[in-house]
Amino acid sequence: MKVFNTVKEVREAVAAAKARGKSVGFVPTMGALHEGHMTLVRTSRAMCDFTVVSVFVNPTQFGPTEDFDKYPRTLDADAEKCEKEGVDVIFAPAPSEMYPEGYDGWVTVGGVTEVLEGEARPTHFRGVTTVCTKLFNITGADKAFFGRKDYQQLCVIKKTVRDLNMSVEIVPVDIVRDVDGLALSSRNKYLSGDERKAALCLSRSLNIAKDMYKEGADLAAIKEAVTKEIESEPLMKIDYVALVDGDTLREVTAESEGVVLLLAAYAGSTRLIDNTLL
Ligand code: PAF
Repeated sequence: MKVFNTVKEVREAVAAAKARGKSVGFVPTMGALHEGHMTLVRTSRAMCDFTVVSVFVNPTQFGPTEDFDKYPRTLDADAEKCEKEGVDVIFAPAPSEMYPEGYDGWVTVGGVTEVLEGEARPTHFRGVTTVCTKLFNITGADKAFFGRKDYQQLCVIKKTVRDLNMSVEIVPVDIVRDVDGLALSSRNKYLSGDERKAALCLSRSLNIAKDMYKEGADLAAIKEAVTKEIESEPLMKIDYVALVDGDTLREVTAESEGVVLLLAAYAGSTRLIDNTLL
């Protein structure tokens, strides 16, 4: 496995792999790799011949008051995990490699970026669509692997690829949970013991919602039950509870093919998200 810091080195390694007839899988990450990321890596390894993982804490997707500075950076441990899983290349650029002096190129996509996370974090998705477009171009990937944990991000990336006719195929991968139900996230590292315990109300409330939906409860009743379950934990503060169309993330209509329940809530000062398709 090679760890590269420059665009040029990644391009050369990918070109050599492609010249040998290999398909290229790409796993974009911000590092602090956990089992959720490693599941993306394993899926890429199962579906593609050559796997590139990017480790880049992307400054343009953090708001001015968000956790860019304190976001965990653990490249050595990340590289060890990737090596064990048979990753071919890690791309770990410095911010100046991705955004050199005078940089001013942006990818903006409307619709699905404007609600929920987009409302709470107004510049977030422009940073994600921009960095992912750059990374798709740099890696020349045939397939890119995204977790369903960031459900809206997955919708945004699928729309970006569709709207801009990118040739990369986006492959969604299921959420990985700890044994107690907490969805794995690099931000779980910020939680105290009590906050972590409190945060379990998120997966509990998703299960309540799934059961109620199966039994035919209406969406308003489900939303009320989910809200009550999260509010039962004094350390939790809800940002949103949304039951929306699984594609557009707008109101559910007769044409909706699926309903997704999306949650965002603070455990202490840590903002967590979780979701399930109903
Ligand atoms: O999901 C993430 O970790 C990031 O948003 C991504 C896709 C790596 C872009 O920086």
